This record gives sequence, structure tokens and C-alpha cells, in this order.
Amino acid sequence: MNVPFLDLKAQYLLIKDEIQEALNAVLEATAFAGGPFVSQLEKEFAEFCQTEQCIGVGSGTDALWLALLALGVGPGDEVITVPDTFIATAEAISYCGATPVFVDVDEKTYNMDPNKLEEYIVTQNSKLKTQNRLKTIIPVHLFGQTADMDPILEIAKKHNLFVVEDACQAHGALYKGKPAGSMGDAGCFSFYPGKNLGAYGEAGAVITNNAELANKMRMIRDHGQEKKYYHGCIGWNARMDGIQGAILSVKLKYLPSWNDGRRKNAALYSSLLNGSDSIITPKEMDYAKHVYHIYAIRTKNRDELIAKLGEKGVNCGIHYPVPVHLQNAYASLGLKKGTFPVAEKVASEFVSLPMFAELTEEQIHYVADEVKTCLGK
Ligand SMILES: Cc1ncc(COP(=O)(O)O)c(C=O)c1O
Repeated sequence: MNVPFLDLKAQYLLIKDEIQEALNAVLEATAFAGGPFVSQLEKEFAEFCQTEQCIGVGSGTDALWLALLALGVGPGDEVITVPDTFIATAEAISYCGATPVFVDVDEKTYNMDPNKLEEYIVTQNSKLKTQNRLKTIIPVHLFGQTADMDPILEIAKKHNLFVVEDACQAHGALYKGKPAGSMGDAGCFSFYPGKNLGAYGEAGAVITNNAELANKMRMIRDHGQEKKYYHGCIGWNARMDGIQGAILSVKLKYLPSWNDGRRKNAALYSSLLNGSDSIITPKEMDYAKHVYHIYAIRTKNRDELIAKLGEKGVNCGIHYPVPVHLQNAYASLGLKKGTFPVAEKVASEFVSLPMFAELTEEQIHYVADEVKTCLGK
């Protein structure tokens, strides 16, 4: 049996007619860059996330970068995030001229450990005293489960820091009933094709309840324009394509049922894999509704497992093999192996199994059986 890691074609075939209709509408309206289809998606996505504002942009990386710029993060500032994330979280900080700093993750959730966050801020504040370079915290909702937001928001409030949620993997996830991305000063989403809500190309969005912040981001994404050819600040071109807006509007309607499909598939995987000593399955926290963008198990024999599964037609991934502080791109930070022991340990054990809503029970049984066989039950 062949089990792909992701099957975008299976999803497309289910909504093909609606997508073609949406594409035709954009072509007929020639509304290609920004425009009414993007505005419509913004309205719908804001409603979905229960926020007042949504700004459609070119990618999740743009979303993070614009949110930080609009909050005034700049050269000399430090932004706290986690090492186990896609590198874009750190890149957005660097592209503001600021420095990414990291706190370790929690071993159960793989998300920011609030105790480590508090510890870090207290130590830094005592060192920096008057400089006060810490500006913002970026918790990442890794794999589709939100970080433990209440303590993070409380710490941020106490130390006067902004919170930008990296919700690029968490469309529709909940924390104590609240949508991912809606709790901080801003929440950032990627609509990269493989995401739970994916465009047919690059796209992203920022959500916020802060109208002033939203206006700044709208200006920055469009060359700092206040009105046509009147530029109030130096911005950039970070607009969303009309075609992506129209496609995302079609797909947003299906997101809750697709997320339910992922949750059902994850539950089946876990029921089949739990009990094996050599595997740790993902843990859904009491506060969370996990949307399983990634279903990552942990095992000590990762490379062997991936190779053997590949021979059996099961395609896996690793998200992500090298924590950001150990990437060559960030060698200048001088952070050595051992600095963030939990993040490093879990990154060396992660294996992402095939996960998408259209996976069949037969495929899941096959993958789970092969995993258990490869690891000797
Ligand atoms: C956690 C996280 N942050 C940021 C991004 C960047 O999003 P994009 O690829 O749309 O720029 C991604 C996308 O993979 C991501 O997973």
C-alpha cells in the first residue's frame, strides 16, 4: 500500500467545481492583487477567529513580520520565541532588525514552557535594567495545539510585553474555547498549500482586535499607502492575490469538517499506537482542541523507522530536525548544543506520520501496523 504524507489532490477533487467557479469569478472581475475577494476572505476569517480585524497578506512569514513591524519591533530589540518551530518565526524577528531569543519547550506539549519564559524574563530584566530591550513574545502553536496561553498572557502583561501568536499551524484550534490567534495582540496564519487551510500558492493573514494596529499593517502591506500614491510610511508589497482570497473563501467553509477528520484520524492512530513502549504519541491537553496539522510521534530510532516505513510505501516527515538555535543561519547567536535540552531532545525523536482528513481507516491501520512492526511492537 502507498500512503502519502499529504494528498492535496484528494481534497481538491472534493471541491473542484466550487474552486473552478471561484477562479472564474476572479478572472471575470480581473481582481488579481488584493481587491474584493481578499476583503471577503478577511471578513470571513475574522468572523471564524472571533476577532474584529483580519489582514490578508502574501504568506505566514509576511504575517509575522508585519505584526512585529506594526508593534514597533526594531533594531536593538529582542523577541522571545521557541527553538522548535519553522525558521520563519525567527526570520520575521531578524527582518525587523531585532534579535530572536529562545526559551525551552514543555516536553508534553512541545510548546513554550511558561515557567522557562518567566525565568528568562526575570533574569534578563535584572541584567538589562534600564535598557529594556525585550519587546514581544511569540508563542508558536506547534503541530496544531495551542501553547498554554493564560500564563503566557499573564507574564506578558506583568512585564509589559506584546504577544504575537504564531498560529501558522493552528487554523481552528482552540484554547479553553478561544480560537488560536485571537488571544494575543495579533495572531499570524500561513495558508501555505499543505496547511489545514491552504491556498493554491502562497498566502497568509494576521488577525487582531486592535484597529490601530490593523491599519498600520494594512499600510505596510501596501507600500505604506494611506491613499493611492500617498505613502505615510515605508512599507512593502505583502498583498494577498485575489485568486488565493477566492480559493480560501471556498475552503474555509470546509475547515471545521476537515479538522474533525484530522482529529478522528489522530484518535485512531493513538488508539493503535498507545501501549508500545518505544513510541510517544501526541498528548491533547485539557485546555486544548488540537487540530493535528502534524501528527508527530516520538521514538529513539527515528531514522531507522523512517527508512523502513519508506520501503513499505509509508511517507513520513520530520518537523523539524534541527531546532532554530542550532541552524547554521543562526550560528552568529553563539547558542551551542545543550542550551535548550528539551527542544533538542524532542527534535531528535519526532516522526510526522501521514495526516490529512481524507486518510482512510485502512491506511491508518496499515501505517500503525508497520510502525509497530518496524519498532518490534
Ligand atoms: C510555525 C510556522 N511559522 C511560520 C510559517 C511561515 O509561513 P509561510 O510558509 O506561509 O511563510 C510556517 C509555515 O510553514 C510555520 O509552520
